[in-house]
Amino acid sequence: MSYIVVTTRSPFSHEKVGSKETIKQSTGGVSTSLRLLMEKEGGTWICWGDGNNDRNYLEERLENFRIVRVLVSGNDRKGFYEGYSNSTLWPLFHYFRERIVYNSSTFESYQRVNRQFLDSIIRAYSPGDTIWVHDYQLSLLPGMIREAIPESTVVFTWHIPWVSGEFFSSLPESEQIVRSISSADIITFHTSLYVRNFLDSVEQLTGESDTVRPKVHSVPLGIDYSYYHKKSEDVHKSPFESQQMVLFSIDRMDYTKGLLSRVNAIEYLLQEHPDLAGKFVYYLVVSPSRTQVWEYRVYRRELEMRIGRLNGRFSTVSWVPIVYMNKRISDQSLMAFYRFSQVALITPLFDGLNLVAKEFVASSRDGVLIISKFAGSSEYLDGAVKVNPNSREDLAEAIYSAFRMSPEERRTRLEIMKREVSRHNSSWWVRRIRELSRKEVIRVAE
Ligand code: UDP
Ligand code: G6P
Repeated sequence: MSYIVVTTRSPFSHEKVGSKETIKQSTGGVSTSLRLLMEKEGGTWICWGDGNNDRNYLEERLENFRIVRVLVSGNDRKGFYEGYSNSTLWPLFHYFRERIVYNSSTFESYQRVNRQFLDSIIRAYSPGDTIWVHDYQLSLLPGMIREAIPESTVVFTWHIPWVSGEFFSSLPESEQIVRSISSADIITFHTSLYVRNFLDSVEQLTGESDTVRPKVHSVPLGIDYSYYHKKSEDVHKSPFESQQMVLFSIDRMDYTKGLLSRVNAIEYLLQEHPDLAGKFVYYLVVSPSRTQVWEYRVYRRELEMRIGRLNGRFSTVSWVPIVYMNKRISDQSLMAFYRFSQVALITPLFDGLNLVAKEFVASSRDGVLIISKFAGSSEYLDGAVKVNPNSREDLAEAIYSAFRMSPEERRTRLEIMKREVSRHNSSWWVRRIRELSRKEVIRVAE
């Protein structure tokens, strides 16, 4: 048996500027985690070829796995990706009611692109393969596969939060989506809350939660712990000034990540504790994301304005409180931040899981993790300082106490989290999903 993994985001894309060909690595939890996994496990990875030179790499054989790319027309890029996926489903599933765009023509585009992925799956499929579909951009695929290849085993993994049944049913296409997902053999979410909300949606929309329940599981995505642990140990020297404490975060530029609240909290912290001036630096790294979506552009402008205002207010000749970077940073820089920051500030307003938090835990020497209680990962990270990102007082207080935390307490907290993240790592995740799908194959055979 081998896996056909299906995602929209590819592990990397091919770009061409003039006659120069380059490779662009992807950001985002789904593609980064699956890449490490496919390198170990092998199989076929079907994904979107959105690089401007991807049409010359529709099929690409790497050392251990094969990539098959699906090309999407310019109009469907707008309708499927910028429209239905990221202006309808994304805000809906993160409870951003006022940002949801309801538009039936983008749904048509969404259906069309899901069908294009289906065509590639049909071509790649051999009897006995497990088809593993990921995330909200491809929610109609399980139903389409079930019709086209009824005997196949389909696993569906949802990587973002699942909202309450009542909220979800405000979506005109909610029943179609829930019926499609329910036709998969195994359905996984990252937390037990999302499982409950999903089953609640199934019950409200179809009344069939009893038949679906046995197939739905909470299996949180794990990271390749030893990769991060070893890689970070290779970074021997801290790039930071030793007399200043380093506060760090890395996110995609996304309104769900709570970046504005963080800047507000730093402003409040400096106002309440003027003695901290000059004693720390906050490295706020934000990688570009969904730059064609209007809401994302507005958000970036607002963030940059607030950072400018704060730095303008508190900077001195020798100190700037927030060092802001708007780029994808190299793996080496990422490791240096993970290894040597005293505090990681991971405070999304809502987040399906958040892998950065786990990567920080695996790589840090003695850092403190401050995490939002609305990030899926917080359910599993007991040693973290948990905060409500909507309260600037709560956030500022957490940062202040992290700066003052004793080395013993830091180490104890980090040890608890390291144990958890290394035990429930990416191999555990695949093993668990494999066990569940094997049981399903046996059940169907019987
Ligand atoms: N990442 C990266 N370089 C960057 C920014 C992010 O490699 O400049 C990676 C990061 O290491 C993590 C992923 O992108 O593996 C982000 O995943 P997460 O689950 O934290 O958030 P998402 O972006 O999926 O919402
Ligand atoms: C989140 C989603 C992924 C998505 C990633 C990056 O992690 O769950 O499905 O790939 O964000 O977003 P992008 O729009 O660049 O694929």
